[in-house]
Amino acid sequence: MSPPAIRSSCARRRRPSGAAATPAALLRRARAAARRAYCPYSGYAVGAALLARDGRVFGGCNVENASYGLTICAERNALAAAVAAGCRAFAALAVAGGRGRAPALPCGACLQALAEFCPPDFPIHTAPLRGRGGHTFALRELLPRRFQLPENPA
Ligand code: THU
Repeated sequence: MSPPAIRSSCARRRRPSGAAATPAALLRRARAAARRAYCPYSGYAVGAALLARDGRVFGGCNVENASYGLTICAERNALAAAVAAGCRAFAALAVAGGRGRAPALPCGACLQALAEFCPPDFPIHTAPLRGRGGHTFALRELLPRRFQLPENPA
């Protein structure tokens, strides 16, 4: 089930264009967001850049806490920023982070949160913080079966 529609510019223009529309450009935005990560406990910085259908880009970084379980992931911070700005229609997500050459992948909680708003073929570009080695997945590859309430089937 899609979330209820709201009046916002996101719904008007379906094809994003401009500087952040390419995977490489969106990954640059994710890497920039990762520089603001607050991760003194794990040392694992993550940045996310969520491209809205209207061309806006919402950034997020992970924000850790001394009470470890309160940590918020970069992807959900980006998603929350977008929704709080009135945006619920998205074209792509880029995630950059981790240590070394391995790209950071969104965790299960973030995938479930994305699935609330994004279709199964939603593209997720992943990359390490520095260097090459990224990969693009469809949301359905990383989360084949999202949780759904029985009264709200897709
Ligand atoms: N983290 C994210 O920001 N996104 C994810 O999808 C997985 C993990 C963060 C949380 C924590 O600050 C650090 O990475 C190590 O788990």
